[in-house]
Amino acid sequence: MDTPVVRNSTAAWKRADGDHHIHPFTDNEALRRKGGPRIIVKASGSVMVDSEGNRIIDAMSGLWCVNVGYGREELARAAYDQMSELAFYNTFFKTTTPPPVELAEKLATLTPGDLNRFFFACSGSEANDTILRFVKRYWNLMGKPAKKTVISRINAYHGSTTASASLGGMSTMHEMDDLPIAGIEHVIQPYWYTGGGDLSEEEFGLVAARAVEDKILELGPENVAAFFGEPLQGSGGAILPPSNYWPEINRICRKYDILLVADEVICGFGRTGEWFGSTTFGIEPDIMTMAKGITSGYLPLSAVAVSDRVADVLYAKGGDLSHGYTYSGHPTACAVALANIAIIEREGLVERVRDDIGPYFQTRLRDAVADHPLVGNIRGIGLVAGLAIVEDKATRTFRTPVGTLAGRCHEICVEMGAMIRVSGDSMVMAPPLVITKEEVDTLMVIYRAALDKTAAEFGLV
Ligand SMILES: Cc1ncc(COP(=O)(O)O)c(C=O)c1O
Repeated sequence: MDTPVVRNSTAAWKRADGDHHIHPFTDNEALRRKGGPRIIVKASGSVMVDSEGNRIIDAMSGLWCVNVGYGREELARAAYDQMSELAFYNTFFKTTTPPPVELAEKLATLTPGDLNRFFFACSGSEANDTILRFVKRYWNLMGKPAKKTVISRINAYHGSTTASASLGGMSTMHEMDDLPIAGIEHVIQPYWYTGGGDLSEEEFGLVAARAVEDKILELGPENVAAFFGEPLQGSGGAILPPSNYWPEINRICRKYDILLVADEVICGFGRTGEWFGSTTFGIEPDIMTMAKGITSGYLPLSAVAVSDRVADVLYAKGGDLSHGYTYSGHPTACAVALANIAIIEREGLVERVRDDIGPYFQTRLRDAVADHPLVGNIRGIGLVAGLAIVEDKATRTFRTPVGTLAGRCHEICVEMGAMIRVSGDSMVMAPPLVITKEEVDTLMVIYRAALDKTAAEFGLV
């Protein structure tokens, strides 16, 4: 007979996890064999505690989402109040509830340009699926049904559903189940450190943008519907494009009448020191994806922001919108989003990232690790940063297989009390917007020590 599961014990949770819980983006068998996952049981501000009592600074904001930090009673209260009043009603069939209306109205004041209408979903993936449908619908209504192909970038991340994983450019995801679906083309990413060779960043910025133009000309502009891109590639390794990349992409999209979609799932709500990365990087999107920081991850919610140019056509010519999710505009999630945005505004968190903690974090990071032999490249803005972890700095050579050094350094960081993320050969950080300067200082000590230990283990000192 099975030993009874003792509740609230790390060993029991790990055992049950191995037996029953399928983790995303994980080798589940390897995790089980290695003794199971770390179990996070509580958190406050930027610090989490695991089931064995270890305190860990969360330098990844959950998964790029807990912008206002953990433990905000105000958000719990907003959810409680809304659930008590009206836990759920749908927004289909000529009804709504107040929170999605108020949230859409509020978002229209925050988004750049003429992004004035909002469709709600639960995740970034669903939002990007929605956009794919809207884009195709738009061109059908415009009498240009051939304009259907979408261009995005290699190593982009746009989600994990069939359509959004296809939009993304992650080779391991594509290999898993024969993606991408038809009608999606990928071009090079604007990652100067690995792709730029002897070119200056600006020269490479033009090369990367012109790859989009070349692809448009190859396909025929009359067949291209949209270009999708993250303002900075988050999951791909916190890759910042050269400063001339996005202005050139704006020009190209306008020239060939191609919709520009900015996937702001990571950049939105203050991460780069503006409300949206589009402002930071000078992007003029026709459509924008937002999720994560919209509720600081307290409840699942995403939104598609649609410009007047696109929405006017969908409204005037489209008739019924044959698309929607049960939880589109979920009142409780939207109430939490409103309370979350109120905190960001009241505490001036966007300005804090732009003028204070963001520059502090970036400077301290460079001070701490720029001269380290394993750190080939540092990029970052606001409260997001990526480090390329190399075997040989002089030749920009990475250790094989991919992620060997960064992966080990990640394990050491977590053991030392800093949760970061690994993406290929990059170490990525994106702490909550409320992180204190003392916590930033502690993180830097840990990064340096973890890099030293990694270098020592691999004989690279
Ligand atoms: C830029 C970007 N788009 C879309 C997504 C997918 O969002 P979700 O995991 O909520 O489906 C992510 C998730 O990390 C993302 O970083």
